[in-house]
Amino acid sequence: MMNQANHIAIIMDGNGRWAKLQDKKRVKGHEAGAKVVKEITKYCSNNKEIQRLTLYAFSTENWKRPRLEVEFLMKLLEKYLKDELPSYLENNVKFEAIGDIRAFSKSLQKTIKNVEEKTAHCDGLIQSLALNYGSQDEILRAVNSLKECDENITLEMINNALDCKRDVDLLIRTGGDKRLSNFLLWQSAYAELFFIDTLWPDFTCKNLEKIIQKFKKVERRFGGLK
Ligand code: FPP
Repeated sequence: MMNQANHIAIIMDGNGRWAKLQDKKRVKGHEAGAKVVKEITKYCSNNKEIQRLTLYAFSTENWKRPRLEVEFLMKLLEKYLKDELPSYLENNVKFEAIGDIRAFSKSLQKTIKNVEEKTAHCDGLIQSLALNYGSQDEILRAVNSLKECDENITLEMINNALDCKRDVDLLIRTGGDKRLSNFLLWQSAYAELFFIDTLWPDFTCKNLEKIIQKFKKVERRFGGLK
């Protein structure tokens, strides 16, 4: 049986470098990156094998960036979510945020909640955006939420207390670096990792298609024998 890419997770890296290569400001790279998010989401929503697409949009560490870049990303996210609501509905995509969104402006939080509510009935692809997300922060919040519990904590209890409760099958990072940058560490325990040099704004559905084809042929053993 070939592998099924049920849950794909992507670290969308390289926006800044893409912009620099064309003598543009870094934020132009993020703008171009947002367009790719739309295309990849549409592609995944049309592929019945893919149930879940989780994208790293803003990490708990991204606050360290220059204030103007952070503000730009916040505005871009809010605009993206407002503009995309009709496409989510049209493509039967359910939107979910993972991460601690309490750190965002009231207005952005409201937009996130609104798109989550309006798409809650959609039963096609689930698009999860990781927003103010860090895997260690997610695990810490999960463990703290179990603090009052009298029984011994089980793996299942931790898993169910996480923002993202599904294992990743295929994790992709664009932009050439080979690291996980605090993204879905728990959920990627047995994920197949693919690193591609292409910068996120240049990433295409064709690139994704090729990666999925390779992934399908990998032998996954989950720690067991063949
Ligand atoms: C990494 O590129 C990308 C980010 C930190 C943010 C990801 C954001 C987007 C793809 C666009 C907005 C997303 C949505 C959902 C609207 P980088 O800036 O670290 O690039 P660099 O490594 O070349 O500097």
